[in-house]
Amino acid sequence: MQIRVLGAAAGGGYPQWNCNHPNSRRARQHDPAARPRTQSSIAVSADGSRWVLFNASPDLRQQISENDILHPTDGLRHSPIKAVVLTNADVDHVAGLLNLRESQPLNLYGTGRVLDVLAANSVFNVLNPDFVERRPLHLDAAVDLLDPSGAELGIRIEPFAVPGKVALWLEDESSGPNFGTVAEDTIALEVTATGSGRRFYYVPACAAMPDQLATRLRGAALVFFDGTLWQDDEMVVLGVGVKTGRRMGHMSVSGEDGTLAAFDGLDVSRKVFIHINTTNPILLDDSPERATVEQAGWEVSWDGMAIEL
Ligand code: MLT
Ligand code: MN
Repeated sequence: MQIRVLGAAAGGGYPQWNCNHPNSRRARQHDPAARPRTQSSIAVSADGSRWVLFNASPDLRQQISENDILHPTDGLRHSPIKAVVLTNADVDHVAGLLNLRESQPLNLYGTGRVLDVLAANSVFNVLNPDFVERRPLHLDAAVDLLDPSGAELGIRIEPFAVPGKVALWLEDESSGPNFGTVAEDTIALEVTATGSGRRFYYVPACAAMPDQLATRLRGAALVFFDGTLWQDDEMVVLGVGVKTGRRMGHMSVSGEDGTLAAFDGLDVSRKVFIHINTTNPILLDDSPERATVEQAGWEVSWDGMAIEL
């Protein structure tokens, strides 16, 4: 199975358009230790020719352009992108669907909750319903992904709920402390190549590590995990925002109940941060925080990172 990181940054990308924090400034100055990153998405293929996108970022047009695996090769209208799987309805994960407009066949997978959100926004009908089939995912039910002709792609996903929050733009203040969030709002994926049996986990948003999740991830060959913030109050302390990571539905990398601590002892062979916010110091190759995560066995993903599993 081949995995390509199309985008490693969180919503807004790195550098975020309105961010003048030193992290972002260094990226704009082409500092080689501060590589820009587009918004989070990966592409996965079992056969090297048909690819599945996990989330569709607003930067998808650029991501396709920069990754020749996603270029058309066959006739005048073609795409290696055969399916898209959505893990939530964040702008950084669904807005890129608009780049896939016109009459190109593909399958679109998401929970009922996320597909309902798309259905309620008619702009997404630019994905011509005659060509793009929307296929509901059910929690804890494994699915063999299909290309639009109905052929198996050789990739099985099992979606499961993780702690999280409804997308920012769907928050309902009147619905109690978690803004009307339901389990289907934030899913993670167990992804298996049906031919080889190799598998990995994709967890780009996660607010906490309950025992059940830790048990599931224990011993995994590869986990991509939410790397949004270094510390919970990072944006507040920097004066760039009023929200904590917890408020946004993300556990933070450092701290007692942070991700480094949560994975300590889980025996995961390869641990990769993705969905990294423009303020997070682990983005910088030369930061002490980067050294700390690498010391703990983590990798910080970057656009174009390729993994063969
Ligand atoms: C998030 O991951 O918290 C969201 O992408 C934030 C946003 O929509 O800006
Ligand atoms: Mn996001």
